[in-house]
Amino acid sequence: MPISFDSEHRVFKLDTATSSYVFEIYEQNYLLHLYYGAKIPDSNLSAHRYKGWFASHAPLNINIDDTQFSPDVSMFEYPCEGSGDFRETAFAIRNADGNNTTDLRYVSHKIYPGKPVIDGLPSLHVNSDSDADTLEILMRDAVTGVSAILYYTVFSGYGAMTRSVKIINESDKAVEIERVFSTCVDFNTHDYDMITLYGNWLRERNFERTPVKHIKQGIYSRRGLSSHAQNPFGAIVGKDTNEEYGSAYGFNLVYSGNFEFSCDSEPHGGIRVLMGINPDTFGWHLEPGDKFSSPEAVMVYSNEGLGGMSRTFHRLYTNHLIRGKWAHIKRPLLINNWEATGMDFTGDKLVTFAERAKELGIDMLVMDDGWFGKRDDDKSSLGDWQVNEEKLGGPLKDFIARINALGIKFGIWFEPEMISRDSNLYREHPDWCLHVPGREKSIARYQYVLDFSRKDVRDYIYSLMKDIIAENNIAYVKWDCNRSLSEVGSAILPPGRQKEVFHRFVLGTYEVMDRLTIDFPDLLIENCSSGGGRFDPGMLYFTPQIWCSDNTDPVDRIDIQFGTSLCYPASTVGAHVSASKRAGFGTKGNVALWGTFGYELDPNTFTPEDIDIIKDQVSEYHKYYDLIRNGDLYRLISPWESDRRAAWMMVSEDKNEALLTCVTMRKEWGEAFILKLRGLDPEKYYVDDTTGEVYSGALLMNAGLNLTDYPQNDGDSFKIYLRTL
Ligand code: DGJ
Repeated sequence: MPISFDSEHRVFKLDTATSSYVFEIYEQNYLLHLYYGAKIPDSNLSAHRYKGWFASHAPLNINIDDTQFSPDVSMFEYPCEGSGDFRETAFAIRNADGNNTTDLRYVSHKIYPGKPVIDGLPSLHVNSDSDADTLEILMRDAVTGVSAILYYTVFSGYGAMTRSVKIINESDKAVEIERVFSTCVDFNTHDYDMITLYGNWLRERNFERTPVKHIKQGIYSRRGLSSHAQNPFGAIVGKDTNEEYGSAYGFNLVYSGNFEFSCDSEPHGGIRVLMGINPDTFGWHLEPGDKFSSPEAVMVYSNEGLGGMSRTFHRLYTNHLIRGKWAHIKRPLLINNWEATGMDFTGDKLVTFAERAKELGIDMLVMDDGWFGKRDDDKSSLGDWQVNEEKLGGPLKDFIARINALGIKFGIWFEPEMISRDSNLYREHPDWCLHVPGREKSIARYQYVLDFSRKDVRDYIYSLMKDIIAENNIAYVKWDCNRSLSEVGSAILPPGRQKEVFHRFVLGTYEVMDRLTIDFPDLLIENCSSGGGRFDPGMLYFTPQIWCSDNTDPVDRIDIQFGTSLCYPASTVGAHVSASKRAGFGTKGNVALWGTFGYELDPNTFTPEDIDIIKDQVSEYHKYYDLIRNGDLYRLISPWESDRRAAWMMVSEDKNEALLTCVTMRKEWGEAFILKLRGLDPEKYYVDDTTGEVYSGALLMNAGLNLTDYPQNDGDSFKIYLRTL
């Protein structure tokens, strides 16, 4: 049983493929956390209960016989504000009396196969009830009558579980939720490092490893989007954990707005890890009878280092996050005009792109920003989703027909949540954007943010999008979002609910995305936010791929794609060959191949030599498609360990195929390059597809390959494809 309850000791035990997660109902129905880590057979962990140094620590709970129990040091399963636990807490409500003292205690539980959906929010799914088991724990605050249901789901066959919380106001008075984290894990030692992914526009998701200190430390977003600055991912790892060995706890929030991932220090030696909506920019008014659901946190445990953690996230997301038609079938190989033309294009020009694309074996042309309103630069027209027929040389339908006649599919760009100051929509509805009374609105890229917390605003924008997609043969949509949220207020919410706007905006965006996926189940949607500013599992639930970065330089992309690979699979990583100068077509192709693969340049500029290379790349895209999308990733040399070289491998699940890619960022002079491969079957023999040499898996992993004579000047790269005999 993946989830069990030992009624004698009143202990819950959740066993994933790699881990055990254990907590107990203690005296007075406190829910105390006992253990999370490598799998253990025991369920009686009372000796393990953490108390620290007690007697001096107030407040002792007079209702508990155990005088050594103190909320100040106990490991809580879902710690509450103001009741003697002085660390960062997971939950706080401000009650009708005006204080925020909150104290949830266990009431009841149920365990069942399957997994419930979360209303209005993306979450991992099961394909059948046998895929997962769920534990629901009902807790209640005796004074306010507010209840919380803690949800835990264990996925069969994965070292992974999810957590979320639903708050129900069962009292007869309104309350204000001040904080509601999705998960909280108390650890009783301090000997960990924290790994997070920081960045900015053009340099998203850089790996950062810092020791866990005796302070509160962590990452957050307050931008309204999950953001370039920090990804809603964090890992807590052992001091000796590396790519292959050691314990790694990965946390990832299925949410696209303001989040927090933090680690608070407990004076007696433990730490508390929290992940959820950022409480700094959040509040929620809960009327009697109302419910509030938190986003879902995904928790992966691996004792095979960061590599094991990443591979678990990848398989889990491929099978239980990404949905719809495009989750498992082959996606089209596309060319996008953005980097080639910006907004300076015509219908005729794009038809030439499609003609060249056809000759090269590319499946789809994506028309990026600039096809609507009077948008010839980024100063105007967002919100005016009317086709610029003059630019396209006629109605959109006719233009698409010209593309389709060449045997090329067609995709289009939208930025639904935005409004240009210079737009008819803004002139007609200046109150439709986020704003607060009496203040100037900050402007970014000449645009404001539409108030997607409002249904009327969402309905209007969606009806325009829907008409365009329904009336034309559109196979793909790129959903962009190019600025953060500021002056976050809504014209239609009362003052007491303005703190809800950040979260309501996210819910509104999800609602429109949901409608889009329901109305157009065949549509492939790619998410984008000035590159990878909203690369998170919330978006992946609606859009199976995300444009990873506006930086398409293959050397820079190494850092970005390595960081992204910590929890997101290659099938989700939007990666194109572009005109960037730092490396040749070969390396650009090799790096983009570790993603969705596509092109982002003017195909009319290709030389005959370029065309030969690109035709080879297109055939490699097909050859390696399944291996890259469904294989296991092994990061052999990471850019966070070496600024000279990067190397990674994809290995098929049956271990019969592997593709090794090496890129040189900076030439290493006069040094042998021996690389030990990983993930192969030591018993099998592999043939190198290019040289015909045969090696055992054992040799490749222990003696390694001598790659000294392979191309290794700055920007060079090469691939080696191995398959079993
Ligand atoms: C930002 C995106 O990241 C680019 O790919 C492009 O779509 C532009 N926006 C268009 O404005």
